[in-house]
Amino acid sequence: MKKILIVNPKGGCGKTTIAANLASYYALWDVPVALIDYDPQHSSLEWLDQRPADLNQIMAVNGAKGRVNFNLDVERIVIDAPARTTDIQTQRLFEKADVVLVPVLPSAIDIRAIGHFVGQLMLGGMLKTARIGLVANRVKENTIVFHNLERFLKTLDIPLVTHLRDSQNYIRASEGGFGIFEMSPYQVDKDIEQWRSLIEWIEEK
Ligand SMILES: Nc1ncnc2c1ncn2[C@@H]1O[C@H](COP(=O)(O)OP(=O)(O)O)[C@@H](O)[C@H]1O
Ligand SMILES: [Mg+2]
Repeated sequence: MKKILIVNPKGGCGKTTIAANLASYYALWDVPVALIDYDPQHSSLEWLDQRPADLNQIMAVNGAKGRVNFNLDVERIVIDAPARTTDIQTQRLFEKADVVLVPVLPSAIDIRAIGHFVGQLMLGGMLKTARIGLVANRVKENTIVFHNLERFLKTLDIPLVTHLRDSQNYIRASEGGFGIFEMSPYQVDKDIEQWRSLIEWIEEK
């Protein structure tokens, strides 16, 4: 069983979007999967509430409700972290994870914030506990701010695994309780292409 944590204390960077779409990817391919939502706002659980009954199931776990039993009968556990996690909370979440994804937006504020967060991870010795990868999210290619983000991320000791474009498909999927993988292929081929390297990296032995 593999546990994949999506974390970044900065709100709005795409944690829930990536967690939900990753869970739906596994569901589509018949991999038993659970989605643990640690966010008190329950965005992932609300997404799951909308999920059409004819799609493959994703087990919902409310992590904000107290101690979570990780002995679930599934092959993949996707963990959606809350915003504003403290050092201790981050450490606890990292202890559970085999793979950690850190979404980051191309914006000056988010670039500064990711610098602080990575510093926090280094000081806490957390960079050694799991495989960590960055995901640039809501990217508009050929913009200065994206190039700035790429340049900054290269200075970190963490790989930039993929970038995901800013796309209405994610908004549509989040409203309907499904993932982009469960939409018409012609609509989402560009997005799915960007996920390929991410999935390969997560599933790397
Ligand atoms: N790649 C993307 N393209 C377009 N909208 C996105 C993308 N990623 C996230 N969003 C939107 O941005 C908002 C914040 O994303 P969310 O996943 O909720 O962030 P977090 O969980 O980190 O707070 C949501 O409205 C979501 O639909
Ligand atoms: Mg969220």
